[in-house]
Amino acid sequence: MKIEIPLSKANRLINHGPTVLITSQSGGRPNIMTAAWQTPVSKDPPLVAVSIAPGRYSHQLIEESREFVVNVPSHVLLKEVHGCGTVSGQEVDKFRKFGLTPEDAAHVGAPLIKECIAHLECRLYDSFGIGDHTLFVGQVLAASVEEDLFDDFLKVDDPRAKTLHHLGSNKYTCPDQRIEVD
Ligand SMILES: Cc1cc2nc3c(=O)[nH]c(=O)nc-3n(C[C@H](O)[C@H](O)[C@H](O)COP(=O)(O)O)c2cc1C
Repeated sequence: MKIEIPLSKANRLINHGPTVLITSQSGGRPNIMTAAWQTPVSKDPPLVAVSIAPGRYSHQLIEESREFVVNVPSHVLLKEVHGCGTVSGQEVDKFRKFGLTPEDAAHVGAPLIKECIAHLECRLYDSFGIGDHTLFVGQVLAASVEEDLFDDFLKVDDPRAKTLHHLGSNKYTCPDQRIEVD
């Protein structure tokens, strides 16, 4: 038997892609924002999309700079991930508040977050107003990952590479195995 759930919770059924930390910068200090609504959308060119509400400070910074970085945190950053999704960079310096370290990116002005396991440096390719969010589509200019946590696939079965997946509110889940089909 299946139960019907409110439409407002429908996204919770498909929302377990990794929760990421988006960094952006436009002139002033860099900012970090937590985003669960992200997805790859094209292979060639490599494009990723992230859905960001207009009220977010990051929305303004990405519109101004036309760049952003998708940083992939592991589960050890749970508190920082949740924290970066509950306060705005308009009021606080989230790098300082959450003890995260900015590192220069190779291709964009926004920094990488050193403590994250992987990074996608993106230049804004397109954006669309969609419902109450804006879909920012970024062209991936560079992608990097901790060497020993990737063997062509993310080693999510290694405790250091368990990604965080948002179930909604303050609930997350983590994968801990890779399964394979012949
Ligand atoms: C787990 C989690 C996931 C989130 N995902 C998104 C998202 O995909 N899009 C969005 O606009 N806001 C999302 N948020 C909310 C923003 O991260 C939050 O409003 C943040 O404070 C914005 O920061 P800023 O104002 O510094 O840009 C999420 C929050 C959490 C805790």
